[in-house]
Amino acid sequence: MKISIKTAACLALGLFSLVSAPSSAADIKAGEQKAQQCAGCHGAKGISSYDGQYPSLAGQHALYLTNQLTYFKSGARVNPIMQGMAAGLSEADINNLAAYFASVPNKNVNTRVKTPAEGSAKFAMCAGCHGSTGEGNSGFPRLAGQNPDYLVNQLHAFKKGTRKGGPMSAIAANLSEEDIKMLSVYLSTLKPGK
Ligand code: HEC
Ligand code: HEC
Repeated sequence: MKISIKTAACLALGLFSLVSAPSSAADIKAGEQKAQQCAGCHGAKGISSYDGQYPSLAGQHALYLTNQLTYFKSGARVNPIMQGMAAGLSEADINNLAAYFASVPNKNVNTRVKTPAEGSAKFAMCAGCHGSTGEGNSGFPRLAGQNPDYLVNQLHAFKKGTRKGGPMSAIAANLSEEDIKMLSVYLSTLKPGK
C-alpha cells in the first residue's frame, strides 16, 4: 500500500485527537514515586541499558508516553508485560508518570557501534515527523539514543501490523530488513536533543 506523507500526517493527527490533553496538571513528584515500579526493566530514572528489549523512557515526550500507556491499558497496543503494568494505572498515574519521565534529562547514546554512514540519507524520509536529529515532538516519539533492539522490534511490529501507530505501518511496509537494522543502529547513536 502506498500512502502519501500528507495523508499519513492527517491520519496521525486524527489518532492524537482521540487522546486529549491531560485534564489536570500533572504531579511530577507523584510520578517519580510511581516510577519505582518501572525501574527494574526501564532502568534507574528511565534510562535503560543497551542490552535487551527495554526502551528508555527518560527524555521521551509526555504526550507520546501518555498515549502509549493509554493504548496498553485499553489493549490497543499489545504487549503482555506492559498491558499488565498499565492495567493498574489510573489516568492521573499515567499523566504523572509521563510528566516525570519527560522531565528527566537523557543524553545517553549507544557507543558500542559505529554510526552507519548511510543513516542520515535514509532517515531523511522520517525527519519530517521525528525531527532532523530524531528528537521528536509531542505525539511524535523521540528516537535518538533509543535502544536499537527495541526499535527493530517496533518496526517489525508496525510492518506485521501487530502494532498500529498512525502512519507507521504504511511507512514500515516500505522498509527492507537491512533498512530496519541500519536505521535502528543509526538512531541509537544519534545524540538526543536534551
Ligand atoms: C517487567 C518489565 C517491565 C516493567 C516493570 C515495566 N515495563 Fe514498560 N515496557 C516493557 C517492555 C518489554 C516494553 C516494550 C514493549 C514492546 O516491545 O512493545 C515496554 C514499553 C513501555 C513503553 C512504550 C515506550 C515507547 O517508546 O513506546 C512505555 C511508555 C512503558 N513501557 C512505560 C512503563 C511504565 C510507566 C512502567 C512502570 C509503571 C513500566 N513501563 C514498567 C517492560 C516493562
Ligand atoms: C508522517 C509522520 C511519520 C513519519 C514520516 C515517520 N514516522 Fe515514525 N512515528 C510516527 C508516529 C505518529 C508515531 C507514534 C505512533 C503511536 O502513537 O503509536 C511513530 C512511531 C515510531 C516508532 C516507535 C517508537 C517507540 O518509541 O516505540 C519508530 C521506531 C518509528 N516511528 C520510526 C520511524 C522511522 C524509522 C521512519 C522513517 C523510515 C518514520 N518513523 C517515519 C510518525 C511518523
